[in-house]
Amino acid sequence: MDDTDLLLIFGTETGNAEELADDAAHSAKRFDLNPKVMDMEDISPEDISETKRLIVICSTWGEGEQPVNAQDLYDAVSESEEGSMEGVNFAVLALGDTAFEFFCESGKEWDSILEEKGGKRTNERLDCDVDYDDHAEEWIEATLVLMKEIA
Ligand SMILES: Cc1cc2nc3c(=O)[nH]c(=O)nc-3n(C[C@H](O)[C@H](O)[C@H](O)COP(=O)(O)O)c2cc1C
Repeated sequence: MDDTDLLLIFGTETGNAEELADDAAHSAKRFDLNPKVMDMEDISPEDISETKRLIVICSTWGEGEQPVNAQDLYDAVSESEEGSMEGVNFAVLALGDTAFEFFCESGKEWDSILEEKGGKRTNERLDCDVDYDDHAEEWIEATLVLMKEIA
């Protein structure tokens, strides 16, 4: 594994989270980080636990539910052993809509399960409403600065 690796995983139903992950990966190159964007459907908890830098970008669907492509991975991480995420420095960007009762619930769940399993929060979670472009961009820049500082 390269020491500048950054894993970006997205949970999405209509592509917003994927687009943000791609944008963040593009920006990461300016920080001399080596980004890899993955659909949550295509990775395992073991893949996540091997990374030192992790950005999770996930929307919420239904009534506070994980997107379809995120549910299995979320369940698998929840069921993984204690300390499975030790050494993982993570930050979560949650997409949602304040018109819904369970605003950004999936992102909140990711933020708390990664910490519960031993991961270290590198930046505070950002909960985004529908008009998220500027906030998300600012958060991504700030998060990349923090990720870059991780030795
Ligand atoms: C049918 C439906 C259900 C949704 N449920 C929620 C919800 O429970 N909580 C929330 O914060 N946002 C909810 N949203 C808003 C989405 O999370 C938001 O539009 C997000 O930007 C979608 O991102 P994606 O394209 O990456 O899936 C819902 C949207 C739709 C259309």
